[in-house]
Amino acid sequence: MGHRVDLQHPISPRGQGMPIYRQLYGRYRDAIATGKLRAGDRVPSVRSLASELNLARGTVELAYQMLAGEGYFLARGPAGTFVAPGLGNPAEPIEPVGPAGADGSAPAARAPRRPAQAPHPRDAVRPFQPGLPALDAFPRKTWARLAGRRLRALDAAALAYPDPAGYGPLRHAIAAYLGIARGIACAPEQVFVTSGYRGALELVCRTVLAPGDAGWYEDPGYLQGRRFLERAGMRLEPVPVDGEGLVVQAGERRAARARFAVVTPTHQSPTGVPLALPRRMALLDWAVRRQAWIVEDDYDGEFRHHGRPIPALKSLDRDGRVLYTGTFSKVLFPGLRLAYLVVPAPQAGAFRDMAGHLPGPGSDLLQATVADFMEQGHFARHLRRMRALYAQRRGYLVDALRQTFGARLRVPPQAGGLHVLALLPSGQGDTAWAAAARAQGLAVQALSDWRMRPSSPGGLLMGFANFATPDQAVEAVRRLGAVAPVP
Ligand SMILES: Cc1ncc(COP(=O)(O)O)c(C=O)c1O
Repeated sequence: MGHRVDLQHPISPRGQGMPIYRQLYGRYRDAIATGKLRAGDRVPSVRSLASELNLARGTVELAYQMLAGEGYFLARGPAGTFVAPGLGNPAEPIEPVGPAGADGSAPAARAPRRPAQAPHPRDAVRPFQPGLPALDAFPRKTWARLAGRRLRALDAAALAYPDPAGYGPLRHAIAAYLGIARGIACAPEQVFVTSGYRGALELVCRTVLAPGDAGWYEDPGYLQGRRFLERAGMRLEPVPVDGEGLVVQAGERRAARARFAVVTPTHQSPTGVPLALPRRMALLDWAVRRQAWIVEDDYDGEFRHHGRPIPALKSLDRDGRVLYTGTFSKVLFPGLRLAYLVVPAPQAGAFRDMAGHLPGPGSDLLQATVADFMEQGHFARHLRRMRALYAQRRGYLVDALRQTFGARLRVPPQAGGLHVLALLPSGQGDTAWAAAARAQGLAVQALSDWRMRPSSPGGLLMGFANFATPDQAVEAVRRLGAVAPVP
C-alpha cells in the first residue's frame, strides 16, 4: 500500500474551478512541499487510487504524468511509483508551481527549484542516555527469527482481539520466571501484561486507587513515574531516601494515612541503594496496618553486577499488600513497550475486570515473540551476557569520570543498574551543568530534577549501557568536561 495524500476532503468535480487532475496534482505537490510525503515514499498505483476516489484512470494518470514530468514522482515500473529523492524539506516549502493555464492545462514542466534535505531523524541513542539498555548487544537475529515465524504463522488467534490481560503463554512465562529469578510465587492469572510501566500504574490507579488519594513517593524518585501519578490525580508525599533506601519512619510521620507507597526496593531509582531488610519489614507492616498498597517497581532488578540478586519485596509479602511491576524495557528493549503487573490473588478478578476497559498491551504477535524468547532459553542467556557487559561498561564510564574529574565528582558504589549517579561537591548546582550538556547533545540528567524537595548534594545521572568501548566513554566525558561550570 502506498502513501496517500489527504483524501478526507473529496476531490470535487468543480473544486476551485479546477479540473480534477489538477486538484490531484496540487494535493500531491502540497503534501511533498509540507513534508507529509517524503523522498522514497511509495504512492498508490494509478489503478488503486482511481478506484478509491471513483475517478477515471486517465484522470489519475494525467496527474501522475505531470508529477513525474516535474520531477516529483519517480516511476519504477512494477515496483511502483515513489516520491523522488532530493525533495521535501518541511522547513522550506518547495516553490509553488505557477497557476494552471486559463484552460486548466498543465503548467510547463519544470523541476523543483530547491535542492532537498531529509529531515533529521530523532537521535535514538545519545551519549549518557539513562534508562536505555545496550542496543548494540541485543540478539537481533534471534529476535527477528522468532518474530518472523510468528508473523508468518499468523493464526486466527493473532488476527482476533487479544486478551486485555495479556497473551496467555506470556503470562505463564512471566509467572515461571518470577518464581525462579525473583522469589515471587504467583499464578499466571495474577499477571497482567501492560503497555510499559505506565500501563501498569494506570491499571493500579483505576482499580484500587482514586484521584485525590495520597501516596508516598521516594524523594529523589523516578521522574516519569511521578509525573504520571500526579497527572492521574494522586497526591504524592515525598519520603526521603538515605543509605538504606526509603525512610519508612519519615513516611509514617508525614502521611501515615496514605493509601499507597511507590518504591524501588532492589535498586532505588536513582540512588541505587537497596532497601534494607528492616525497612522492608517496616514498610510491609505499615501497609498491613493501614490496608495500604505498596507498588514495587522492580525495573532493573535483574542487573546486579556483583553478588547475588536481591529477592523482590513481593517475595516477603504474606498479606497481599504488594502490587509488583516489572518491565521488558531494560532486559529486552524499550521500543517493545511491554511491562507487567502482578497482583495478589484476591484482587485478580477486579484487575481483570478493569483491564477489559483499558487499551491493553497491544498485539499478540510481539507478546508471543517475547514468550518464545523466554521459553526457548534466549532470555536467560541474554541476561547472563548483559550482566557481564554492564559491569564492564560501567567500568568504562567510572574510569573516564575519575580520570577527567578526579575528586570533583564522587561516584558512590552501586551494585547494579544501567546508570551512574555522580555527586557534586556540596554547594555546586547540577541543573546548569546538565542543561549545558544537553544543549551539546549529551543526555545527562540533573539529580535535582528528580527531587521533590530542594536538597543537596547535586548530582548527574548518566547512562553507561551504550558505551561500547572505553574510548567512547572518554570522549563523552571529555565533552561533559568542556561544559562544566568553573569550580
Ligand atoms: C525507575 C523506573 N521504573 C520503571 C521504568 C520502566 O518504564 P517503561 O516500562 O515505561 O519503559 C523505568 C525506565 O526507565 C525506570 O527507570
